[in-house]
Amino acid sequence: MAEPYKIKMVEPIAVTTREHREKALKKAGYNTFLLDSQDVYIDLLTDSGTNAMSDNQWAGLMLGDEAYAGSRNFEHLQKAVRELYGFKHVVPTHQGRGAENILSQIMIKPGDYVPGNMYFTTTRAHQELNGAIFRDIIIDEAHDSQSEHPFKGNIDLEKLRALIDEVGAERIPYICLAVTVNLAGGQPVALNNIKAVYQLAREHKIKIMMDATRCVENACFIKQREKGYEEKTIKEIVREMFSFADGCTMSGKKDGLVNIGGFLALNDDDLYQKATSLVVVYEGMPSYGGMTGRDMEALARGMYESMDYNFITHRLAQIEYLGDKLDAAGIPIVKPVGGHAIFLDAREFYPQIPQDEFPAQMLAAQLYLQSGVRSMERGIVSAGRDQRGNHYYPKLELVRLTIPRRVYTYAHLDVVANAVIDLYKTRDQVKGLRFVYEPPVLRFFTARFEPLP
Ligand code: F0G
Repeated sequence: MAEPYKIKMVEPIAVTTREHREKALKKAGYNTFLLDSQDVYIDLLTDSGTNAMSDNQWAGLMLGDEAYAGSRNFEHLQKAVRELYGFKHVVPTHQGRGAENILSQIMIKPGDYVPGNMYFTTTRAHQELNGAIFRDIIIDEAHDSQSEHPFKGNIDLEKLRALIDEVGAERIPYICLAVTVNLAGGQPVALNNIKAVYQLAREHKIKIMMDATRCVENACFIKQREKGYEEKTIKEIVREMFSFADGCTMSGKKDGLVNIGGFLALNDDDLYQKATSLVVVYEGMPSYGGMTGRDMEALARGMYESMDYNFITHRLAQIEYLGDKLDAAGIPIVKPVGGHAIFLDAREFYPQIPQDEFPAQMLAAQLYLQSGVRSMERGIVSAGRDQRGNHYYPKLELVRLTIPRRVYTYAHLDVVANAVIDLYKTRDQVKGLRFVYEPPVLRFFTARFEPLP
């Protein structure tokens, strides 16, 4: 499918030499997060805040009502959340983790358990900072990079039941249900699974809080893969997904099609009251939270645009295109390909590098060196350490090639595919890395490494 938009404004990108990239990588401590963007050719670090806004969104920026209280753009955002997601209350935050902070504080008591369909870094960090113990209840297939299950983001109901039996429903304030699951490879959750989780949760009076960050991608997969949803619109499917939740945290920087912003949405009036008393401490007035009026306008407009069938099918088609090229060349990737990225399986790519010598971190570094393409480690470095200070050893040791929305063309994706294929040919000679600096939390952002001799 060709792009369902035309290009009205362009931004030149850096074409660099290998020598230049060698210096840049050393300066960045072999961490692609620490590279300057001016040294990057094709930037697949993340799809977060890197989206191209439409002319309609840019026009909306000019209509920002920057009143300290009661901005009309807040009303527009509220209308979008109510109409598209179906939640009663919305608390704007500066981005997704601002919403996670508030949600975790108003719902978690020390010693509680928060089950989730795999973890996300900032989400789990906020849960743990508030004294919760995270439990992964995703289906086993999600941890197997070669399983072709169409809904690898699904929750395993037996694991959820077992946790309820073990700790008691009163120690589970909510289930954190992410649609899609980023670290499993952008994998979707089926509507019939969402419904079943909802039923079980209701029986035990446990709330469901969704991570709505990539909910439109999830809805498109449901339309493509789940029986009975072929004829439904994306908007209808999104609404149905959220009808089984008590609220959500949202990073607008992904499916909201903006560069900054997010929100917490809730149905319960008391919880909303609690959230507003915290948002004034951490973000701002409840009617703007962490956002300007113009940013709320762009997000409201982006949310409507994201429901467009052509937009979202083209997006998924781009990811599939890159996945097919790599797969055809025998490159080990997570399958089926997910909604926002291709994930290279670094264990298979570099079987000679043990996990605690950071094969995925090294693969991301090598890809940059080879081609100027920036990607991201999603393996042991991202997983961090447990409370006793030992590494978590995730089964998935991945490099994420994340595709920003409406930014790159198929020709860019060809460059990426060729670079990965070239690297694969010389994979035997590569060794691992060791830490030079390791920060105590969310270490992947700012850690520094050096190659092992
Ligand atoms: N939830 C999910 C599933 C995410 O992917 C992210 C961010 C967040 C929450 C936090 O939102 O960044 O707005 O504070 N993911 C980015 C990424 C950083 O690159 O995957 P945020």
